[in-house]
Amino acid sequence: MTAAAASDSKSYIFQGIIDKPGAQVVGGKGVLIDIERDGKVYPNMIDAIGGAAVASLGWDDEEVQDIIAKAATETTYSYPTLIANKEAERLAQFYIENSPKGAFSAALWCTSGSESNENALRIVRQYYLERGLPNKVKIISRESSYHGFTLGAQAISWNPRIDKFEPYLFGRNTICLKMPCAYTYRFKNKSETEEQYSQRLVDQVEKMVLDNDPDTVAAIIVETLPGSSLGTTPPPKGYLKMLRALCNKYDIIFYLDEVMCGTGRCGGDGKLNCWENFLDPDEAPDIQTVGKTLGSGYVTIAGVLVGPKIKDAFMNGSKAIFGGHTYSCHAFNCAVALGIQEKIKRENYTGNVFEKGTLINKLLTDKLLSEDNIAGDVRGVGGFQSVEFVKDRVTKEAFDTSLNVGARFKEKCFLNGLVVMGMPSNPDGSCGDRALLAPSFVLTEDDAEAIVEKFVKSVNELTDELRAEGAWN
Ligand SMILES: Cc1ncc(COP(=O)(O)O)c(C=O)c1O
Repeated sequence: MTAAAASDSKSYIFQGIIDKPGAQVVGGKGVLIDIERDGKVYPNMIDAIGGAAVASLGWDDEEVQDIIAKAATETTYSYPTLIANKEAERLAQFYIENSPKGAFSAALWCTSGSESNENALRIVRQYYLERGLPNKVKIISRESSYHGFTLGAQAISWNPRIDKFEPYLFGRNTICLKMPCAYTYRFKNKSETEEQYSQRLVDQVEKMVLDNDPDTVAAIIVETLPGSSLGTTPPPKGYLKMLRALCNKYDIIFYLDEVMCGTGRCGGDGKLNCWENFLDPDEAPDIQTVGKTLGSGYVTIAGVLVGPKIKDAFMNGSKAIFGGHTYSCHAFNCAVALGIQEKIKRENYTGNVFEKGTLINKLLTDKLLSEDNIAGDVRGVGGFQSVEFVKDRVTKEAFDTSLNVGARFKEKCFLNGLVVMGMPSNPDGSCGDRALLAPSFVLTEDDAEAIVEKFVKSVNELTDELRAEGAWN
């Protein structure tokens, strides 16, 4: 049996669907991707999600091939805690110099977003030990959040994918406390302004801090713009500023997870960090995790950035970080990521995806919300957009999870030549099914219009199907 014949009928990979190979990528160029499924190749699909919001430069970028070749010849592996390298230093310097002045002082490079959050948790712990505050251990993160699939990252997350693993996670009522998510579409009261909603949410967090003894609270963690968990719901006005102020008041680390929304994905005017849309430079997070678009899928790289407050505590203390990973600050990965980031900056692709993403939002809003269909909300920032599907636009009732609306929508898009991420509704109805868009930064206006055209066609097809089933009217 040839290898090709074997892979058609059986999978050797223990991930996703394991009884057959499932859909496989077989090529890609720019925003287009070729996918083989059940023996058939679907060429030139528009990849509107870039893997999982990864492909900043799009597929098969020729300049990246040169960057990779150069990095392969010029870099040498070393175990980073024993022998460091110049490539990791250069990437850190680039990130810090291209963020608001004074926001960040140092970076640690990892190989995945989950690993970056694991390391950030260790940095939180060591930071308070350096300061002689060993009782500051509690972490406050949000309901309906996603910070990764390793156990520490799962513990600070909360979503229906996580609860099966609860026996292995830090205590939800003791160490990893959960505050309400910030979800304007569903949970802002009609009578409230966005600022009042933010104030209500932050008042709840302050009560939680006081009830749990501020001297034991270490960090507050939020995704600046939640991705898969809630579908790019922007923070209500003033929310992040109020959280930042609360952290200052009680000596708590303000920690933003920008693994999915950061590194150019949502930065207006070509900015690197998503929080720059909502916070002033002097309100920057103390710790920030990043990943995904940093290496554009060409290398596996993510990272933790720390602000001056964190670095200074270490500098005034042990001047060293406990532990490390074999592939932290990997020279080859850092060199490739730096080349990619330099190209994105030179070509202003971050500005481009912000503009085209904003256009997608406008076109989808105009075309979907003016017609009768299952779309309830169109939302996002720049290059990261979502549509939430509802049974009833007025009551915002979510579809029952058993109807698989998110997965079925993804399939409709697939058959129309478009790749999106489809997510299921929460079983308790606290979030509807949703589709996420995070295209490559290089997309053109024509690409944006083609994405919208295929997306709208898929919404209409699924609406008709659900109506025929009696699940929507
Ligand atoms: C906000 C956020 N944090 C962390 C992660 C984990 O990143 P990774 O899948 O690279 O481990 C993700 C992944 O989607 C994410 O969206």
